[in-house]
Amino acid sequence: MSVKTELTFTLNGRPVTLEVPVEMTALALLRDGLDLKGTKYACGEGECGACTIEVDGVTVNSCLMMAVDLQGREVMTIEGLQTNNALHPMQQSFVDHGAVQCGFCMPGMIMQANYLVKKNPDLTREEMTRGLEGNVCRCTGYSKVLDAVAAVVGAKQEA
Ligand code: FES
Ligand code: FES
Repeated sequence: MSVKTELTFTLNGRPVTLEVPVEMTALALLRDGLDLKGTKYACGEGECGACTIEVDGVTVNSCLMMAVDLQGREVMTIEGLQTNNALHPMQQSFVDHGAVQCGFCMPGMIMQANYLVKKNPDLTREEMTRGLEGNVCRCTGYSKVLDAVAAVVGAKQEA
């Protein structure tokens, strides 16, 4: 029988307290424990970025993080990006630029792209490419992804 412990953290702006098995990953907690299926399981080894979330404002691969290490921290998943049921500008830009095909990599890709732009609103295309290196996409060939991110950067610069 697995040992459980109490865990409290903030998830997409709301406090959450629950019992978790000590060996559970943050990804399993989000997907299986909290039914937030936007964060994807693909490689499970930190190689693909499909499971990217933000913890205390920094992106991490949730497949490599233990759920118990979320104690007291601020977590944002792709579900937390939307406001008032409207797509976040980064999500909308991916749609507008045809950057989404099968969509499997997209939550992680969008979380990472959003983090990069928050960190550096003047991101260059080269910096985008480097910053998204850990996010694997089997479908798009990446150029439409970069166009989508560049459009968000451009819109911020004009605002
Ligand atoms: S599922 Fe976490 S990096 Fe691939
Ligand atoms: S859109 Fe299919 S893996 Fe990226």
